[in-house]
Amino acid sequence: MLDLKEFGIEMWPEAKIISFRKALLEWYDKNKRDLPWRRTSDPYAIWVSEIMLQQTRVDTVIPYYESFLYRLPTIADLAAAEEETLLKVWEGLGYYSRVRNMQTAAQQMVERFDGQFPQTYEEIASLKGIGPYTAGAVASIAFGLPEPAVDGNVMRVLSRLFEVDYDIGIPANRKIFQIMMEILIDPERPGDFNQALMDLGSDIEAPVNPRPEESPVKEFSAAYLHGTMDKYPIKAPKKKPVPVYYQAYIIRNQENQFLLEKNTAAGLLSGFWSFPLIEKFAPARKEINLFEVAEETDILGTFEEAYGQKVDWQDAEFLPIQHVFSHRKWQVDLAEGVLIEGKLAQDRELRWVSVEDFHSYPFAKPQQKLWESYLKGKAEQ
Ligand code: ADE
Repeated sequence: MLDLKEFGIEMWPEAKIISFRKALLEWYDKNKRDLPWRRTSDPYAIWVSEIMLQQTRVDTVIPYYESFLYRLPTIADLAAAEEETLLKVWEGLGYYSRVRNMQTAAQQMVERFDGQFPQTYEEIASLKGIGPYTAGAVASIAFGLPEPAVDGNVMRVLSRLFEVDYDIGIPANRKIFQIMMEILIDPERPGDFNQALMDLGSDIEAPVNPRPEESPVKEFSAAYLHGTMDKYPIKAPKKKPVPVYYQAYIIRNQENQFLLEKNTAAGLLSGFWSFPLIEKFAPARKEINLFEVAEETDILGTFEEAYGQKVDWQDAEFLPIQHVFSHRKWQVDLAEGVLIEGKLAQDRELRWVSVEDFHSYPFAKPQQKLWESYLKGKAEQ
């Protein structure tokens, strides 16, 4: 086992650990947020909440959590769901590989665990898409096992408590915090202990504008006592997402249906439907003056050729939309057209869809934003 001293961390004596647990849990008992996944002991529901909460704020997660469990109430339902249902319940949440992995994990539970959620840390961690954080969270919250759940919030809190001089953004450093938590965690109430640190880390000990004076454990915090709160946690700035430029084509036919395309490529937004999109200046992306390239490109003609449609392009102007993914920043311009004639290209999955039927197609955030910009532009015409 790793020795914390090697990392310059002096663990507290047992008596201090015990009083820390007490102070933290007393605060949690008085201040814990009333959240839907805290009213259940169903490991499946807790797992759903934990996967959603890895990427999204609590307020946003609540309605998604409720409707996910309404549509897919059991492990068997998730295992058997159609792809479009999966994307629909996750629509707008982003990081869609997570819900695909959840389905694989549910299928593994059906095959290997008789459709039940496994009850040991090792078995839980053996499932697709379940790493040490999620395994620890479900094991501790649903089954009361003394397993740490180390996420960014917990690492931030511990960094300040112990003045940890290791970058919390480097995955290999996570094990330092894991070891600390194995010692600190309250074996009587591991789920509450983990969630108390999560609550503390997402509010009083937030990344920006923390309120250290209000912390129930400030007297335990080396950074607080030494006036080094600004220095911790150590975290190198993230790389900026790379900008990518697209043209979206909002094409209507005589029946007032819109042309939608399914993204059949693997990777980002695979399986989602949207207005046809063509990346602008893709070959020139690394060259210096993107905008010169843009002027030379016949971006409307490119669509007509690629999709085999003849289109009457409209002059209306729409605000471009932006969407930031973890590694990419999209800017998408909109062009509106009315179909003159054409046969749908066979090498693509294309469909004419009326607005009333949009709800049955999974739309990711950029498509939702495109539709909003389009409606706004039309309203102002
Ligand atoms: N963030 C991640 N898991 C959480 C939980 N169980 N409660 C509150 N915030 C969380």
